[in-house]
Amino acid sequence: MVEPDRALDGRVALVTGGTSGIGRETALALADRGASVAIVGRDRKRGRAVARELEARGGGAEFYAAGLASQATVRRLADEFRGRHDRLDVLVHNAGLALDRRSETADGVEETLAVNHLAPFLLTRRLADLLVESAPARVVVVSSGLHERAAIRFDDLQLERGYDGLAAYSRSKLANVLFAYELAERLRGTGVTANAVDPGFVPSTALSRGASLRGRLALRLFSLLPLPFTRSVEEGARPVIRAASDPTLEGVTGKYFTDDGPTQSSPETYDERTRKRLWDVSAGLVGVSPELPVEPGARR
Ligand SMILES: NC(=O)c1ccc[n+]([C@@H]2O[C@H](COP(=O)([O-])OP(=O)(O)OC[C@H]3O[C@@H](n4cnc5c(N)ncnc54)[C@H](OP(=O)(O)O)[C@@H]3O)[C@@H](O)[C@H]2O)c1
Repeated sequence: MVEPDRALDGRVALVTGGTSGIGRETALALADRGASVAIVGRDRKRGRAVARELEARGGGAEFYAAGLASQATVRRLADEFRGRHDRLDVLVHNAGLALDRRSETADGVEETLAVNHLAPFLLTRRLADLLVESAPARVVVVSSGLHERAAIRFDDLQLERGYDGLAAYSRSKLANVLFAYELAERLRGTGVTANAVDPGFVPSTALSRGASLRGRLALRLFSLLPLPFTRSVEEGARPVIRAASDPTLEGVTGKYFTDDGPTQSSPETYDERTRKRLWDVSAGLVGVSPELPVEPGARR
């Protein structure tokens, strides 16, 4: 039997947003389980520091400096990764942000949607065949319980009318769950699983850096008080690490995990038409065909 603590020996993991918070914690835990870990983020100083921490765990460690708001950068990141690796066993889409004010990326897309949803969509697409060739492999999408507050409005997906930062963030986290479920369907039979995870409320991370001063202060206060509904970074990362590496979850796909294990997500996430439509719209926004470029012959 595989010992759970070295379940990832010889495996390669890619963790976006591994430069801080839940992503850093996840990256370190995957390295502890034997994986060679690559992290992605914008902050070079923090990225290099985490890479050193990963190296100290004895496995391979890489830092890719990449801003995921840019589709060209996501494509370059995938190409660079493919140039260095011939396998990918665990892909954790953890990078995320929340913005108080509406902004658009160089591609003309609302930024929260671009970073939190479209970057995972495009990166997965560019690495899908590598995942299939490495199967059994896992894709983990870090969502949030806030997805339950959101609805996908296809007539204003990018919140051009009456932008609200929390609404934009919650909608992007709903898109994460819809994406994970649809990806699980499209990869069925390949040995690659896709699941979404809610880390819970972790006020001590840097997620609120784009929020108003009032919002940042409130979160700072939450992080200092021993409140029953707040979680430490270690606790928040736990279900992410589990979804990415627990050997007992081999083959489990299309689920939404909290710290209590597989949990129901919001009713809208089970709406197949919404899932498929979002997939098609996302493909259009990143300029690719909706088909996953996975060779049927490579499927296991
Ligand atoms: N904290 C919570 O309460 C909570 C609750 C539910 C879900 N989540 C989710 O958990 C995930 C991790 O968040 P966290 O709380 O750990 O926050 P965090 O400490 O701010 O970490 C976010 C990570 O994403 C990266 N990132 C942000 N924007 C990026 C961009 N444009 N390009 C590349 N990387 C980018 C950041 O790296 P750089 O700064 O180096 O770019 C950082 O490593 C997010 O998806 C978030 O939605 C958090």
